[in-house]
Amino acid sequence: MVYLPVFATLLSTILCSVNAYSGNATWYQSSVGGCSVNDSNPEDFLVALGPSEYNGGASCSGLVRIDYDGKSVVATVNDLCPTCPPGNIDLSATAFEELAELSEFLISVTWDFV
Ligand SMILES: *[C@@H]1O[C@H](CO)[C@@H](O)[C@H](O)[C@H]1NC(C)=O
Ligand SMILES: *[C@@H]1O[C@H](CO)[C@@H](O)[C@H](O)[C@H]1NC(C)=O
Repeated sequence: MVYLPVFATLLSTILCSVNAYSGNATWYQSSVGGCSVNDSNPEDFLVALGPSEYNGGASCSGLVRIDYDGKSVVATVNDLCPTCPPGNIDLSATAFEELAELSEFLISVTWDFV
């Protein structure tokens, strides 16, 4: 019985290996987000989701893994991106930099909750 959660985690990891979401990612300078996550640390990887995935704040503090070009980064949901259509996300500059140069500004990513 002790091992059940481990198997469940493993299984969900396998099942989640295909990302559920795809869209464009842009970046922003991190600021105090709508989630009240203390993001004063500029090194933190943060992500803002569009209204449908932000889900009225239910996604706050959740972790999202974003994949792009063979690279991936895990970021904490800290804000609403009011102008993001479903699938599109806004990353803190630090998180975006893990995937691409900031000068690219907009990249096409896939992502999922982890
Ligand atoms: C992503 O960006 C491209 C290029 O700007 C645009 O054509 C496309 O419609 C965008 N996709 C979404 C889901 O916003
Ligand atoms: C946020 O975190 C920073 C660094 O850990 C800390 O100095 C600051 O007091 C915190 N702010 C709030 C509102 O908790």
